[in-house]
Amino acid sequence: DFSWKLADHPKLPKGKTLAIVVLDGWGEANPDKYNCIHTANTPTMDSLKTGAPEKWRLVRAHGKAVGLPTEDDMGNSEVGHNALGAGRIYAQGAKLVDFALASGKIYEGEAFKYIKESFDKGTLHLIGLLSDGGVHSRIDQLQLLLKGAAEHGAKRIRVHILTDGRDVLDGSSVGFVETLEKDLANLREKGIDAQIASGGGRMYVTMDRYENDWDVVKRGWDAQVLGEAPHKFQNAVEAVKTLRSNPKANDQYLPPFVIVDESGKAIGPIVDGDAVVTTNFRADRMVMLAKALEYEDFDKFDRVHFPKIRYAGMLQYDGELKLPSHYLVSPPEIERTSGEYLVKNGIRTFACSETVKFGHVTFFWNGNRSGYFDSTKEEYVEIPSDVGITFNVQPKMKALEIGEKARDVILSGKFDQVRVNIPNSDMVGHTGDIQATTVACEAADLAVKMIIDAIEQVGGIYVITADHGNAEDMVKRNKSGQPLLDKEGNVQILTSHTLQPVPIAIGGPGLGPGVRFRKDVPNGGLANVAATFINLHGFEAPNDYETTLIEVVDN
Ligand code: 3PG
Ligand code: CO
Repeated sequence: DFSWKLADHPKLPKGKTLAIVVLDGWGEANPDKYNCIHTANTPTMDSLKTGAPEKWRLVRAHGKAVGLPTEDDMGNSEVGHNALGAGRIYAQGAKLVDFALASGKIYEGEAFKYIKESFDKGTLHLIGLLSDGGVHSRIDQLQLLLKGAAEHGAKRIRVHILTDGRDVLDGSSVGFVETLEKDLANLREKGIDAQIASGGGRMYVTMDRYENDWDVVKRGWDAQVLGEAPHKFQNAVEAVKTLRSNPKANDQYLPPFVIVDESGKAIGPIVDGDAVVTTNFRADRMVMLAKALEYEDFDKFDRVHFPKIRYAGMLQYDGELKLPSHYLVSPPEIERTSGEYLVKNGIRTFACSETVKFGHVTFFWNGNRSGYFDSTKEEYVEIPSDVGITFNVQPKMKALEIGEKARDVILSGKFDQVRVNIPNSDMVGHTGDIQATTVACEAADLAVKMIIDAIEQVGGIYVITADHGNAEDMVKRNKSGQPLLDKEGNVQILTSHTLQPVPIAIGGPGLGPGVRFRKDVPNGGLANVAATFINLHGFEAPNDYETTLIEVVDN
């Protein structure tokens, strides 16, 4: 029979304060000048790496190790934190959508039938990130869905695109829009009125997360629903090319635009009787729009008009909130996460990050659940992020504030697990600004030092790891590892994550002298970390968790 009770670990004691640090976007790669972790002055992380070889190793953080479709899929924070918190590898959204499209099951589900009822009289709107990044969405899935929707009766389709440049190279948006336009032209030849209706850059339009800045969602709403935007074009390729010609512009931050007809009228506002699908499979940057589309009561911005639509998400984005209530593909069922087990075994848990990563170390960590398992034993603290800037301007972000908060909580003795996400190397890495990313890595290293120092004072244990790579490689490379150049002869800056492994280090005065990394899990990945820290709390991990990375030898 199932029981939440974890067995005592035969050798490891309970009662040690455990700090778990997730350095977001901190991978391991060859040292060169485009490796910002290498160029940055990071004495604390360096000392962990060179200090005790049996207490530092690399783990896999991309591809199949984190439930992504292929080994060419870079890691990301959603799947990384899911694996870290749940201790098992789940087929993730990208893969589940692939299955549903390939088998055609997506068209047999309740949600597709629901939106299909609008096809006779209404328009089908598809809103999502347009790229092949595979982190939030994939263009090939959009292409299949367009084709399938047309085959299943959609007569009028409007696509609202969000340009990427963050999970893919900046400037690639033009090619993706051209590809989409070709598909839509094919549909038009078959008599389906299919067009791009609006667009904007993902970081400026629609895809905010964790309620950092509702203005981002409002700008999208105005374009997508109301058909209003500061820029109007008759063609989306022209829109993206023109907006990009501003020397300061990039794909991530393109301003919102709408496509208009000859008379200047928007061709695709969302109106009563229409159907809407948000095509991203990943939750964090769709939850806010999903609330705006679904909730009758809503006060985050003035929607002006709240059309009566049939709305479905590609996936359900929040299982606790049941948001949205209709979804084309069921999300991975991530149950019995380490957080839930540990709380039920008396472990008092504290989690903290700044806004832009707060849900990573809570919502994603807990298997895509918002809220507490047991509010009497848990506290989650969000430090407000700076709003309205790109993080290369403030590369230190809130690293020291997170470090201070964790330090104070560790010293208070009120919690057994103190878990933080330090965002800098990821958030600044995504800007492609190499100098700023170096500063970011230095700030993250200082925060790690504060936490390790506090652990030293209370006789605790630390686990320092990361969720995926980013700052350790800031250029696109060819197969032999040489930086690729663009047409002008400049290196192609890599704003995205990488396929690199990430470090994990254990230490602290509370770590028994015989505890070390095993040698027999060479392919260990992020999913092996949960059993590891469950052991360090003095428990055996559940049987179906991926195996622990540590062993205890008698000295
Ligand atoms: C983002 O949403 O910022 C990127 O697409 C992925 O970054 P993350 O996985 O580190 O959040
Ligand atoms: Co990232």
